[in-house]
Amino acid sequence: MYERIGALILAAGKGTRMKSDAPKVLKTLLGEPMLWYGQQALHALCGARVLTVVGHRADMVAAAFPQLAERFVLQAEQRGTGHALMAAMPRLAQEGHEYVLVVNGDAPLVTPESLAAFLDAALAAASDVAFVSIELPEPGAYGRVVRQGETVRIVEAKDYDASRDGPATGEINAGVYLLRLAAIAPLLSQLGNDNKSGEYYITDLVGLAQAAGGKVLAVNRGDDPAYLGINSPAELVAAEECLRRRIVAGLLDAGVLVRAADSVRVGPRASVAPGVELCGPLELYGATTVAAGAILRSHNVLIDAAIGENVTVQSFCHLENARVARGAQVGPYARLRPGAVLEEDARVGNFVEMKKSTLGKGAKASHLTYLGDAEVGAGSNIGAGTITCNYDGAHKHKTVIGEGAFIGSNSALVAPVTIGARALVGAGSVITSDVPEGALALGRGRQVTKPRN
Ligand code: UD1
Ligand code: CA
Repeated sequence: MYERIGALILAAGKGTRMKSDAPKVLKTLLGEPMLWYGQQALHALCGARVLTVVGHRADMVAAAFPQLAERFVLQAEQRGTGHALMAAMPRLAQEGHEYVLVVNGDAPLVTPESLAAFLDAALAAASDVAFVSIELPEPGAYGRVVRQGETVRIVEAKDYDASRDGPATGEINAGVYLLRLAAIAPLLSQLGNDNKSGEYYITDLVGLAQAAGGKVLAVNRGDDPAYLGINSPAELVAAEECLRRRIVAGLLDAGVLVRAADSVRVGPRASVAPGVELCGPLELYGATTVAAGAILRSHNVLIDAAIGENVTVQSFCHLENARVARGAQVGPYARLRPGAVLEEDARVGNFVEMKKSTLGKGAKASHLTYLGDAEVGAGSNIGAGTITCNYDGAHKHKTVIGEGAFIGSNSALVAPVTIGARALVGAGSVITSDVPEGALALGRGRQVTKPRN
């Protein structure tokens, strides 16, 4: 579909109204950068034919999207949306598309369905320049669509003059255009910057194409929320809320039991199986997956976490890049950092932190423990207050604990160290050398008891 059409995302602007040095298109909504959403929607329609114009902090955008390196066009100076298009023209010509679909990078609510409806209308009309218009009760900073007789123009908010342009109608420019390249190429040299912003406006192509006898079409999408642009923090959180509701509604439809649904935030890449129970407030971001039968109680944050079947995560846990296998139990108040793995039926309780560590099948660390760079065998019990001392100030070292071992409370295991299977470490020990299988190790001062005074 749409093989004749290449796509272009305009993402070079700074986003001055966001009051932040980072490029606006990297600001996240539900854990994904704004630019990710536009990429998804355009990729669904135009496959690999999507180019992105970058400029302000292009290095940061490139670092966030390394897979797009080949598809970036640099607009070194940001002199307006028309100037951004000009920067991409040589590349568009080289790729030989008949049309280019141009979308502002700050419209993350855009959907393939809505764009397809626009493309179909524009292609059917064989227009040279087509754009999406929407109706807003308050046109704010959007470009106004001005229709006078047969002609249609877009006038930017700053340049709008009611005595010249007539009373505002509420019809505004959404920032999505379908341009026939052969028709607009000769017009680009006529784009000027003699306006209130001193910028080259892509929107001026509408008037120029008409003056040149071309066919111009405004496709009115009514109150379609897909085109809301994000220019300020307030607009960002409003758009994020729209996305959030869309995703939560989808989960409920699919049979996920979402309690306190208004405070459940699930990113667009997360996947939750039907029948799972979620309770807000709750945040699931990145490539998090939650398998059937799992229960996630309130106040948990999961980022790129894999939750197996029938797992329960009690309240107040933070999991990032962690894997929890079937039947395991987490929390309350646990922290699973990158590389934490709980094998089947393992348990991690309150105030336990794990990093790059595996708890074997059915193993338990129930209270107040740090496991870093550790491998714990199946069925072992890690007593309260156990610390793997994995860092010597310069390097990280491994702790290996065999199956069925028992680590007494308040033990420090100074890595690198190996505790054999079924070994027992006495409470309060500092273990600095390996303990063989089945051995008892005590590494602490003997108790001395004397008469008082
Ligand atoms: C633009 C439209 C306006 C429309 C609105 C819809 C123009 C002149 N105006 O206004 O009619 O109602 O979008 O949201 O196009 N960008 C570049 N290079 C630049 C400048 C901007 O790549 O030199 C990118 C920005 O990163 C952004 C997009 O173009 O993603 C739109 O720019 P922005 O400054 O937000 O335009 P608006 O003022 O919102
Ligand atoms: Ca904008």
